[in-house]
Amino acid sequence: MNNNSPKKIDTYSVMPADTPLSGEITIPGDKSISHRAVIFGSIAEGTTTISGFLEGEDNLSTIAAFRSMGVTISSPVDGELTITGAGKDGLKKPTSVIDCGNSGTTARLLTGLLSAQGFSSTLTGDASLRGRPMKRVVEPLTLMGADISGAEGGDKLPLNIEGKKLKGITYRTPVASAQLKSALLLAGLFADGETSVIEPAKSRDHTELMLENFGVDIRLEGLKVSVSGGASLKGTRVFVPGDISSAAFFIVAALITKNSEILIKNICINPTRYGIIDILKLMGADITLEDTVASKVGEPVASLRVKSSKLKGIDIDGSLLLPAIDEFPIICVVALFADGETTISGAGELRVKESDRIAVMAEELTKIGAEVEERPDGILIQGRGNHNPVYGGLTDSHGDHRVAMALAVSALLSKKGIKIKDASCVDVSFPGFFDLLERVRNK
Ligand code: S3P
Repeated sequence: MNNNSPKKIDTYSVMPADTPLSGEITIPGDKSISHRAVIFGSIAEGTTTISGFLEGEDNLSTIAAFRSMGVTISSPVDGELTITGAGKDGLKKPTSVIDCGNSGTTARLLTGLLSAQGFSSTLTGDASLRGRPMKRVVEPLTLMGADISGAEGGDKLPLNIEGKKLKGITYRTPVASAQLKSALLLAGLFADGETSVIEPAKSRDHTELMLENFGVDIRLEGLKVSVSGGASLKGTRVFVPGDISSAAFFIVAALITKNSEILIKNICINPTRYGIIDILKLMGADITLEDTVASKVGEPVASLRVKSSKLKGIDIDGSLLLPAIDEFPIICVVALFADGETTISGAGELRVKESDRIAVMAEELTKIGAEVEERPDGILIQGRGNHNPVYGGLTDSHGDHRVAMALAVSALLSKKGIKIKDASCVDVSFPGFFDLLERVRNK
């Protein structure tokens, strides 16, 4: 949502499922890959064409940012767009403050990129984004020679960035974060010498795969990723597959609704994003992959056939959750309709996402009749099985798109249905979510 636009206040009602879910669906493009396609296309030489682009608010914030730096980007039509790359040294001082809206990926990746430009710039965002930590990015960039200042000692937006000549470093990140890794690699493309990032565990690797696709020599050695300054990018064709994080809501909807079977086409099954399928299979889910292919951007793609399943609670630790980090809200919902307890631990990062997702999911699920225990780094959910609906009632998305969609799915197994306040935030990552949910319910 734009920083200056009035907050949309709206409430959406989802009624219990009275019919099985069925049909073949496609899901909008992957949010992380769509951001990277615009960022790399903008600093590449020549033209980049993108298909399957996610026209969500977060990605539109990224497009607006590069347009304000003089890059010509066509308006997306049915996910197709063209970027006339400005080249490595072609970005211009932005015409105004760059508003990243709700998008952490835009803010963090641009902090890396802008640190190394020949101009000054300011980044800001909406209230949620202005509350999220930036120090994890600012600190290593400062070690590279960046000049960044901002609220709370540079930990919070707005950030003022004076572009500087940077030097490459080797940096061990304290958290596995693809936004942090990507910010440093972007800065590294402009720095003197080599920049290496070593993570404690492997975060999503879309930056590495896409940089390779843009012709950059990117070196991988276990958990270490390196780029050399001076490398140039060549415009290319990017095919964005469907977002597994968005598909997750429909996967769980089909699993918990009796006698359902759906086919979700063309989903990115990159191993660094596949955690949700592994977790659901451990819980007993009937999910099969069909038509698996390695797409041209190096991202593996498949269709997912999902049938309703009897599920059991499990213990999910930080390493199991990492490749499903954005799926926490919907994992809480599936756990609610499994037999027995589910625990999630090692998930402190969830407190600094679009909302404090641990606190918010505990609060909202309690409102609809669930038994949950909030823990410092996770949650315990008492499963009630798929024959024991929750009561339902009025809930609040807290402006968090993934919370809104998870609550909508929980309504399928409720007695009274669920109302979700501030539901239009789904547009951040999944425009058309509610229409698609109605369609698979054969309404
Ligand atoms: C993202 C990385 C993850 C994820 C976010 C998108 C990306 O954040 O939660 O939704 O596109 O790089 P962190 O890097 O903070 O883990």
